[in-house]
Amino acid sequence: MLTRRHHARKTEEFLTPTYGTRFFTNDLEAFSMSENGTNPQSAYQIIHDELELDGNPSLNLASFVTTWMEPEAQKLISENLQKNLVDQSEYPQTGQLQHRVIHMLASLFHAPEDQDVTGTSTIGSSEAIFLGLLAHKKQWQSNRKKRGLSTESPNLVVGGDVHVVWEKFCRYFDVELRMVPLSKERFVLDVAVATSLVDENTIAVGAVLGTTFTGQLDPVVELNEALEKRFLEKGYFVPIHVDGASGGFLLPFLDPEFVWDFRLSHVRSINVSGHKFGLVYPGVGWLLFRDRSDLPDDLVFRVNYLGAEEETYTLNFSSNAAFVIAQYYNLLRLGKQGYRQILHNCLENARFFARKLKKSSIFIPVDSHPSLPIVAFSLRPPHAGREMEISSELRKFGWIVPAYSLPPKAENIMVLRVVVREQVSRNMLEHLLEHLDISSKILKNPSLPVQGSPPVC
Ligand SMILES: Cc1ncc(COP(=O)(O)O)c(C=O)c1O
Repeated sequence: MLTRRHHARKTEEFLTPTYGTRFFTNDLEAFSMSENGTNPQSAYQIIHDELELDGNPSLNLASFVTTWMEPEAQKLISENLQKNLVDQSEYPQTGQLQHRVIHMLASLFHAPEDQDVTGTSTIGSSEAIFLGLLAHKKQWQSNRKKRGLSTESPNLVVGGDVHVVWEKFCRYFDVELRMVPLSKERFVLDVAVATSLVDENTIAVGAVLGTTFTGQLDPVVELNEALEKRFLEKGYFVPIHVDGASGGFLLPFLDPEFVWDFRLSHVRSINVSGHKFGLVYPGVGWLLFRDRSDLPDDLVFRVNYLGAEEETYTLNFSSNAAFVIAQYYNLLRLGKQGYRQILHNCLENARFFARKLKKSSIFIPVDSHPSLPIVAFSLRPPHAGREMEISSELRKFGWIVPAYSLPPKAENIMVLRVVVREQVSRNMLEHLLEHLDISSKILKNPSLPVQGSPPVC
């Protein structure tokens, strides 16, 4: 039975409007847990309001990551948020959807019919790159061991245009990084230099399709030819891992004739981010091996404590199933035609933006006809080097456009970068151009000291 006082207190709790509760005048102890907690409405409102201080995701042109999905996709995501992807025996249908996506991607990436393509979903491209490269390292070790050769000094050859995750892999997994520096004229892999760094201890060579820095494409066909030649001359086969974080979902729809995938003999593994141009919220990525034999068996774990024997090849054990389901939703809902339409719009808008920049007297695009919907651009002389100031000015309008210096040997070049995602319409770009114009008035003031910042992605 409620006492009168208790009843009065309960009534007061119900009647007090959210912003009338004491929680809005209490000092929040940010780093220690309070003894008594907060009522749900107030907790929600406090956190919701604090997050208003974040940037607006739609105006975040720094990010490659999807910021909009259809309401039906959102519904599926919220219906499945509680499912753990690893529980395949409990959620067999979810496992089925994952397999279907892998097979659809295999076909988009031209996996040979006579090979046993294999793959996994991941949290994103970073995990996929780690797993792909680990498989190549193991494969290299086992080939060397079989021939009684040393496995002391594995190396990985990449261009200076790779995402930091490639460097992380080398540091975390004890592989020597052989990086081909960029130059003032070239912001993608130089195949001749890369090939000169390849030797019998090279576990793989990386090729990026859609570099984080400029959105350009590494010359993967040329690289494949060079490695084929090396194989004939020296007898060692060096695989290519393609980082298709962005390009993996773009190229099959924007330029199906462009050869970059399993059509090339040395491409043995490919990663792609579902949460970039796969058009799914973060985090989902995909890793595909051309053939089951590219994934050494001792890296695949078999566990039976979830009900039935399951295979796992991931760094994380648990992960959310909702985003894998959302990926399947997109593939089913959009079909090839839907992806083509959306991604063509992104590319046309990016090219429109690059053309406008080319005509301007202040800015200059790195590529006036970009292959992917990513536009990197700089200030023309005499203002080159002041891109950070433009980025700060744009922030006053709400736009998030990063400014950063390019990697070594091209580090004196600063760029701004706009990722033209699905949500970035022509209308939005017209406004951005107008705001770039207003922001450039800052250049009349004397310059501020330059500080580079890494690209946000
Ligand atoms: C080329 C490239 N590779 C890898 C990554 C890492 O991808 P993720 O954020 O999906 O882990 C990115 C991120 O932008 C990228 O641009």
